[in-house]
Amino acid sequence: MPQVLTIKVKVSHRSYDIKIGNNILADFPHQLNEIVQGRQIIIVSNSIVYGYYGQQVKEGLIAQGFDVLVYLVPDGEEYKTWQEAENILTILLEAGFNRDAVIAALGGGVIGDLAGFAASIYQRGIDLVQLPTTLLAQVDSSVGGKVAVNHPLGKNMIGAFHQPLGVWTDLKALNTLPEREWIAGLAEVVKYGAIWDEEFFAYLEENVQHIKNRDLDVVREIIGRSCQIKAEIVGQDEKEQGIRAMLNFGHTIGHALEKVTEYKIYRHGEAVAIGMVYAAKIAVYIEMCSVQIVEKLEILLRKLGLPVEMPDVSMDLILESLYLDKKVRKKELVFVLPRKIGQVEIIRGITPQTIKDCLDRPRNI
Ligand SMILES: NC(=O)c1ccc[n+]([C@@H]2O[C@H](COP(=O)([O-])OP(=O)(O)OC[C@H]3O[C@@H](n4cnc5c(N)ncnc54)[C@H](O)[C@@H]3O)[C@@H](O)[C@H]2O)c1
Ligand SMILES: [Zn+2]
Repeated sequence: MPQVLTIKVKVSHRSYDIKIGNNILADFPHQLNEIVQGRQIIIVSNSIVYGYYGQQVKEGLIAQGFDVLVYLVPDGEEYKTWQEAENILTILLEAGFNRDAVIAALGGGVIGDLAGFAASIYQRGIDLVQLPTTLLAQVDSSVGGKVAVNHPLGKNMIGAFHQPLGVWTDLKALNTLPEREWIAGLAEVVKYGAIWDEEFFAYLEENVQHIKNRDLDVVREIIGRSCQIKAEIVGQDEKEQGIRAMLNFGHTIGHALEKVTEYKIYRHGEAVAIGMVYAAKIAVYIEMCSVQIVEKLEILLRKLGLPVEMPDVSMDLILESLYLDKKVRKKELVFVLPRKIGQVEIIRGITPQTIKDCLDRPRNI
């Protein structure tokens, strides 16, 4: 297996590379130097991630002749805000950054979404590079160009499509990633197998122990394949007018669960794991797939350390939250449901009663 994997993402009128490798951050500065004209760059990160990897990136960029600014955002989803985006814009204006300037997002999905959003609006859009450091960011949020900040009235409600110039995915960064973040990211990896690639799903089933040990070759394989699948889907439907919605498998119920539990109980991936199992249960209920699909999902997710059971939350709250989701068109719920492992379909018109019947244990909080 090659040491560095390169995956091309084709988007409107151009393409960009995702480079995946161990210690690829060391190669990033000179590779960036080869593809940009401008000299001004700001690294947006947080103190945890910057503490591990920031200095190396900053020094590398300086050695390539870049003028480097650093902006550190406090850690946490609650800082993925308009205010933080504005702080970044203010720094750029004060430093006289022009339209050739580059924003480098060094961190997890929070940093990627926030820095990406700032890049999408600064002087009507400047170059963005993604340096993802969580598994979730490496397999999902750094790829595909969705950038956003949260609004008090809803997550990711203020955003744009802004494709990066490139993505440098450093497998070494995962060494410092807390176990819970690692496992949460695996839910999205399982999702790719479930929606697109039965063989990949089987690979995951066969390599559970290697995945848990974060064996480098297996990690490279699962990140590479996940990015390939996302690139393929985004390449066909950049603005989510069709098949990109498949990526929302497990997310309809997952989002509702996150919301009802006020984003305090579950990491996103954990809620998605539960959401995938219950989406599969709905599919069985409407006779779209066999019960073995639920079992396969449950077994794999459980072995990887992810939750698969609906907790003790009010079903009415879940339903209410489902109907407030931004993806509900004209009050009609849209679900991504499995036909089999590796194949999902976008289904409209699932009734609240069906959902209620499928969410096993309808007890009140
Ligand atoms: N744009 C998209 O397409 C897309 C897709 C999925 C999720 N998202 C967004 O991504 C966000 C979640 O991202 P996340 O799960 O990466 O969370 P996160 O960015 O909050 O990172 C999780 C935690 O890990 C820490 N961390 C990051 N890298 C580390 C490393 N290498 N070593 C040690 N600690 C590290 C962070 O400081 C943080 O505390 C959400 O805001 C979600 O909306 C966006
Ligand atoms: Zn997700």
